[in-house]
Amino acid sequence: MNSLKIGNIKLKNKLFLAPMVDVTDCAFRLLCREQGVAMAYTEMIYIKAILHENEPTKKLMTIGGKLDQPLGLQITGNNVLEFNKFSKLSVLQNYDLIDINCGCPSAKIVGNEAGSYLLKTPDKIADMIRVLKNEGFIVTAKIRLGFKNNNVLEVSKKIEKAGADLLTIHTRTAEQRSSEKPDWSWISRVKHEVGIPIVGNGGVVNGKTASDMLDIADGAMIASAAIGNPLIFREILKYLKNGKEKEITKKERVSSFQDYITLAEKYKVFDMGRVKYLGANFLKGFDGASQARNDFMKLKNIEEIRNFVKLLC
Ligand SMILES: Cc1cc2nc3c(=O)[nH]c(=O)nc-3n(C[C@H](O)[C@H](O)[C@H](O)COP(=O)(O)O)c2cc1C
Repeated sequence: MNSLKIGNIKLKNKLFLAPMVDVTDCAFRLLCREQGVAMAYTEMIYIKAILHENEPTKKLMTIGGKLDQPLGLQITGNNVLEFNKFSKLSVLQNYDLIDINCGCPSAKIVGNEAGSYLLKTPDKIADMIRVLKNEGFIVTAKIRLGFKNNNVLEVSKKIEKAGADLLTIHTRTAEQRSSEKPDWSWISRVKHEVGIPIVGNGGVVNGKTASDMLDIADGAMIASAAIGNPLIFREILKYLKNGKEKEITKKERVSSFQDYITLAEKYKVFDMGRVKYLGANFLKGFDGASQARNDFMKLKNIEEIRNFVKLLC
């Protein structure tokens, strides 16, 4: 495995944990890093929220110390002037790079002309990148193949020209559902046209698909398959080394959920809604998982959750 660099950041391997709303808080990232993932991001945060410095946003921006590095702050917005203001914030110095989300399809974000809506205006994305590059940041962008129509080649070229250090491509358009097959052929086409590292995303779910992605891209980013399953990174790394991966056991899954709770409390990012969502995903893939999930969803507080998980282990 030859190495990958983002700006001057040298990564220990080519696996990326995708930014995910309600998932990739510092506790979850730390679990994935323990299992070997090289690069991770905060969940997407709207820059207006960062400019207003509200408490829930601070929680989303929490960093899990030195072990939680290198770390990208993922942001979105719709306004270059706001990016100017944002780029001067001292808090940004705590992150290794800034990633601009140009892929979120949610109605709220698209309604604000941010996220995947930005794909309609590639010049605006380029201006946003230039603002951040002018302040000396390492800057990356995460895009989809297009909003409605595929314009990934045009967008990628503009992103490279604006000075971005790396580009991640989620190989679906914003209109495509996650159940639709991603189209990886565009990764090779983009790589033919641009020289910055390209990370491929969409449908990487195990060692084989990660290996296939790394045959065409410089890095492989994993989202859904990592939810409730940080051990996926250990198994993918094993597969990349010797072509073999093994099933993750019940004990491993439950004890990594236990670790999540401990870390979420330690870093003060504990949130009951998130714990329920994540817990339901950790408690999968073993005999009796469905009953365990049903029982888990009835729990009312952290003490009940801690005891329940201890008994399951
Ligand atoms: C629960 C969830 C939350 C997500 N939140 C974000 C986000 O904050 N920022 C982002 O760029 N993409 C987000 N995505 C998209 C993923 O990063 C990724 O691009 C997409 O799921 C495709 O990868 P996959 O096939 O590995 O799931 C999210 C996806 C999921 C499932």
